[in-house]
Amino acid sequence: MKIVTSIEELRDQLSGQLRTAFVPTMGNLHEGHLSLMRLARKHGDPVVASIFVNRLQFGPNEDFDKYPRTFQADVEKLEKEGVYVLFAPTEKDLYPEPQEFRVRPPDDLGNTLEGEFRPGFFTGVTTVVLKLFSCVQPRVAVFGKKDYQQLMIVRNMSRQFALPTEIIAAETYRADDGLALSSRNMYLSPAERAEAPALYQSLNSVAAEVRSGHLDIFQLEHKAMDDLAQRGWKPDYISIRKRIDLQPPSAGDLAQGTPLVVLAAAKLGSTRLIDNLEI
Ligand code: PAJ
Repeated sequence: MKIVTSIEELRDQLSGQLRTAFVPTMGNLHEGHLSLMRLARKHGDPVVASIFVNRLQFGPNEDFDKYPRTFQADVEKLEKEGVYVLFAPTEKDLYPEPQEFRVRPPDDLGNTLEGEFRPGFFTGVTTVVLKLFSCVQPRVAVFGKKDYQQLMIVRNMSRQFALPTEIIAAETYRADDGLALSSRNMYLSPAERAEAPALYQSLNSVAAEVRSGHLDIFQLEHKAMDDLAQRGWKPDYISIRKRIDLQPPSAGDLAQGTPLVVLAAAKLGSTRLIDNLEI
């Protein structure tokens, strides 16, 4: 695996490649990330990964400096997955001058759910993703359903700007007890780790209710949040949305069986977890 830090070096390594499959990450890699590398491999060649902790997507109260950086261990994992090039730019490489041009997602999509609780987050994400795409020029790029709203936003951006990059969705990789793998899981105490699968269980109960014809969405969402709160969680949202645009479904949508997804974010102790499930 070649490790490159400058955009110029990256372009040299990839010149003439027309089938590049790209997986952007912020490092601290776990099996969830590695499952994306494996999916990328099925969709293109060479596989290019990036590791870049993107300051633009961190809020003032979110700890950019404390984001776990485990570069050597990450490199070893990527080597084993047969990644051809790892692009690991420094901030100076990727943002040699202040990144004043930004890509702002539409309000409907960017300011709801995660966007409501993390203002500016998705502008930071789409800006760095567009820039990474411009550097790597991939034919396909793989994103995890774990971050469902991010996946939808990047997919819409790619379509609306007619980017030559097809966005591929990877299923959420879970521990045996259902907890979605996340870099943040390492902050959970043993007791919190034992409680953490309750979030996925809650999504499953909501999905089961909807499937069995319970269509009072408001009541379902509130009951699920109350149940989690009873167990000591602090839920930000549990929300049933249309898959296509992440907007709340109308009565007509529900009657017609429009494809839905239930998304959740909740704090357990000081750790904020997100998860979702397609219904
Ligand atoms: P990061 O959190 O490192 O995630 C990189 C990719 O891995 C994302 O597409 C994410 O959805 C996926 N992923 C994380 N955990 C997963 C799991 N358990 N199962 C499946 N996929 C999983 O998301 C980002 O970085 C950044 O916002 C980024 C897109 C790199 C832009 O900075």
